[in-house]
Amino acid sequence: MTDSKSWVRVADVQDIDATIPFLVELNDRAIALYRVDDVVYATDDTCSHAEASLCEGEYHGYVVTCPRHGGQFDIRTGRAVKMPAIVPIDVFPVRVEGTDVFLSPDDL
Ligand code: FES
Repeated sequence: MTDSKSWVRVADVQDIDATIPFLVELNDRAIALYRVDDVVYATDDTCSHAEASLCEGEYHGYVVTCPRHGGQFDIRTGRAVKMPAIVPIDVFPVRVEGTDVFLSPDDL
């Protein structure tokens, strides 16, 4: 860790399923983790449409589908890619060291 941010270990890479987002909490914020081709991504867990948990949905490739109304987001950018979701969700930088997955509270 060479930058000045603080990082907190939140998961092991092996915890993250290939289609079901993995829910973690940091500073009382629910965050969804994803793993695509061994790269880990992190987004808000809360859908921007009506606050469903994205971790109760599924993702395929870079697209997560909200379980409540089927809105979709690109997990790399947070951009809403399918209605009724319109407003983007936040995405967060992830560090992986070995199999340890870290998020920074400084990014929340
Ligand atoms: Fe997610 Fe409606 S709550 S699309």
